[in-house]
Amino acid sequence: MKNQFKKLIEWSLQTHREIPWRKDRSLYRTLVSEIMLQQTTVATVRNKFDDFFQTFPSLKSLSEATEEKLRVVWKGLGYYRRCKNLKAAADVLVRQYKGKFPENQKQLLEIPGIGNYTANALLAIGMDKPALALDANLERVLSRYCGIHDVPKGPKLQRVLEDKFTQGQLKFLRQFSARQLNEALMDLGREVCTAREARCLICPLVSTCQAYSMGNQLQIPLQDKSKKAVKVDLVLARVLIKKKDKVFLVQRKAGTWLEGQWELPSFVMSCNQEKEFKQYQEAPKKLQKLFSTNPVRQFKTTITNYKITNKIFETNDHKLIESGQGKWFLINKTSDISQATKKSL
Ligand code: ADE
Repeated sequence: MKNQFKKLIEWSLQTHREIPWRKDRSLYRTLVSEIMLQQTTVATVRNKFDDFFQTFPSLKSLSEATEEKLRVVWKGLGYYRRCKNLKAAADVLVRQYKGKFPENQKQLLEIPGIGNYTANALLAIGMDKPALALDANLERVLSRYCGIHDVPKGPKLQRVLEDKFTQGQLKFLRQFSARQLNEALMDLGREVCTAREARCLICPLVSTCQAYSMGNQLQIPLQDKSKKAVKVDLVLARVLIKKKDKVFLVQRKAGTWLEGQWELPSFVMSCNQEKEFKQYQEAPKKLQKLFSTNPVRQFKTTITNYKITNKIFETNDHKLIESGQGKWFLINKTSDISQATKKSL
C-alpha cells in the first residue's frame, strides 16, 4: 500500500510542480489559493493567482484594503461570498494574531471565514501537519480506495474518512508528507479518478483500490438522495433603465444570492415553490403596468435548484425605479456585475 502512495506522490510532484501556489509557499498564499479553489477550477485560479499578489502582496495589505477593492481583483472567480470570508480572516489574523497563523485546528476554526476545509488545508498543505483537506476530490478518491459504498457523501463520509486517517485503515498515510499527500490526492481526483470517469488503468493506486477490485468505482461515493433538489420555476422581471451611457443597478444584499454583486432592479413575477421566497421582492404596484407589456428580451439562467426565466423590461421613466439603494454605472465599466445583468445589457 505504501508503495502505491509513494508512486502517486512522485507522479504528482513530477507533473504538477508548475502550479503557481505550489511555488514560493507561505501560509498567506495557501489561505488565498485554498479559498479561491473552493468553487473554482484549477485552470481558472491559475490565471488569476499571480495577479492577486501584485495587488495584495501581504496579509496586511489585504486587511487594509476595502472589500470593494478585493471584489475588483476577484473578478472572474465568482462566488463573491469568498471575498468576505478572505477579508474577515485577514482582518482577524492581522489584528488578533499579529499576522501569524495559529498552528492548531481549534484556533484556526475560531477565525471568521475559515471553515473545516480551509483549516485542514492550512494545516496539511500550508504547515505540512497530518490532516486531510477533504474536498470533493479527496472524498471521492479515498472513499473509492477504501470501498465505502454505503455512506452518502458529505459530512458523514468525511467523518468516516477522518476516523480511518486518525486510527483506522488509512492511518499509514500519516507517515507521508501531508502536503505532498493532499496535493497528490487532489491531482488524482481532478485528472484520473473523476466523478464521471475512473481511469483505473493509469492510476498508481489501482492494485490496492477496493472499488477497483469490486468494480463499483462509479457508484462511490453514494449520492445523498435527500439532497436531490426539486427544481423550482422562477420568473424574474428585470428593469433596464439607461441614461446616455449609464445604467441603473442595485447591489445584492448580504445573505442573499450573489451577495454584493450589482444587477438590474429585479422582482418576482412568479415562483412555484411552497415556502416563502425571500431572494427577491414582489413587484410594487407602480411597476405592474410596465410588466404587463412585452419584455424587450428574455433568457433562462439557473441558480442552485431554481430555473429562472429572466424578462427584461426597458423604460425611460427613472422615477419608476430610482431609489436611494441603487447607483448609475457606466455600461461595461462595472466590475461586480451579475452574469444575468451582463446578458441583459
Ligand atoms: N484544490 C484545492 N486545493 C488544491 C490544491 N492545493 N491543488 C490542487 N487542487 C486543489
